[in-house]
Amino acid sequence: MTPTSPTPPSAAFEELYGHAPEGVWAAPGRVNLIGEHTDYNDGFVLPIALPQAVRAYARRRADGVLRLASTRVPGEVVELDVAGLAPGGVSGWAAYPAAVVWTLREAGHGIGGADILLDSDVPGGAGLSSSAALECAVAITYNDLYELGLEAAELAKVAQRAENDFVGVPCGIMDQMASMACGAGTALHLDTRDLSARYVPLDLAGAGLTLLVLDTRVQHDLADGAYAALRAGCERAAALLGLPALRDLAADDLPAALDRLPAELVPLVRHVVTENGRVEQTMRELAQHGPASLGPILTAGHASLRDDYRTSCPETDLAVSVAVTAGALGARMTGGGFGGSVIALTRTADADAVAKAVTEAFLAEGWAAPHVYRAVPSAGARRES
Ligand code: GLA
Repeated sequence: MTPTSPTPPSAAFEELYGHAPEGVWAAPGRVNLIGEHTDYNDGFVLPIALPQAVRAYARRRADGVLRLASTRVPGEVVELDVAGLAPGGVSGWAAYPAAVVWTLREAGHGIGGADILLDSDVPGGAGLSSSAALECAVAITYNDLYELGLEAAELAKVAQRAENDFVGVPCGIMDQMASMACGAGTALHLDTRDLSARYVPLDLAGAGLTLLVLDTRVQHDLADGAYAALRAGCERAAALLGLPALRDLAADDLPAALDRLPAELVPLVRHVVTENGRVEQTMRELAQHGPASLGPILTAGHASLRDDYRTSCPETDLAVSVAVTAGALGARMTGGGFGGSVIALTRTADADAVAKAVTEAFLAEGWAAPHVYRAVPSAGARRES
């Protein structure tokens, strides 16, 4: 991660644009506790927002011009005409904020230009949803600047459509909903079919627990094409089974359904159905026994991603197995996979030893040391000033 500029962003905004921002809006990154690759199957997810967020310092403009700058790319201002935005027309980091503005305009909202300076402490390329955070920060900024009156779920859908149709990544809705709608001290149980949400209290510190985030610092090239192929495989399986989505396949019907599918789709379907089950199992465990009981479910979720869904990689597999051997209650990769981050649930007293063991194992392989964070369930997108 590039260090942020020493000049405070509001002062940098004034230097760049010649006037003060009207306000500051923040949208966080996320980790998903359980429910991986279920969102584009209309299934269940259970993310928490991270303390790390993207902040947008912004002022409305009357002339239809969108000016974008980022503290991570000092000196660069990307100037765009809102009316002329089109998919494929903007590349690099500016594509994400431009995508959101394009999507709002496409949806018929009466919006115009803005001056925006983005500042972020969400690690990029770490599977922690830095792009969804960026999209959501711009979505709430525009919602307020142009008084659009959109609710969190509507803004999340705008951000998802921006990523699907403008950036070109066929992601589900989890990351954008997590960034928009998570709450401090809670996990968000989300039904991705109708976006109904339940807030589940998650007092990790109070239970003497720490949720480590171990960023493996690898992002394999196959990520984009592989994600789209997995999604297409799930949709094909649902169609072959005559179901609207794999969410509609009950666990009891799984064995019979697997018998009807071509061999290459069997592990995909098994993962999605068992993973939805693990989300519900997590909810029951949390209610009955508290967060310390979640370890085995997390580790079972990782095994399913590794053996059935095949979105893990040597780095995430090693981080999980070493974490568990070193005393973590459970661990799994989080997010899309093919690298990115692993979460490890540990007793707080064991957290340092687990982080150290994983670091040493990486160094012994000749890999870069993972970046280690402690995830605290934090607030979703909000206006800060
Ligand atoms: C990425 C996508 C999400 C979700 C996860 C896997 O983070 O953006 O929509 O599919 O992968 O659970």
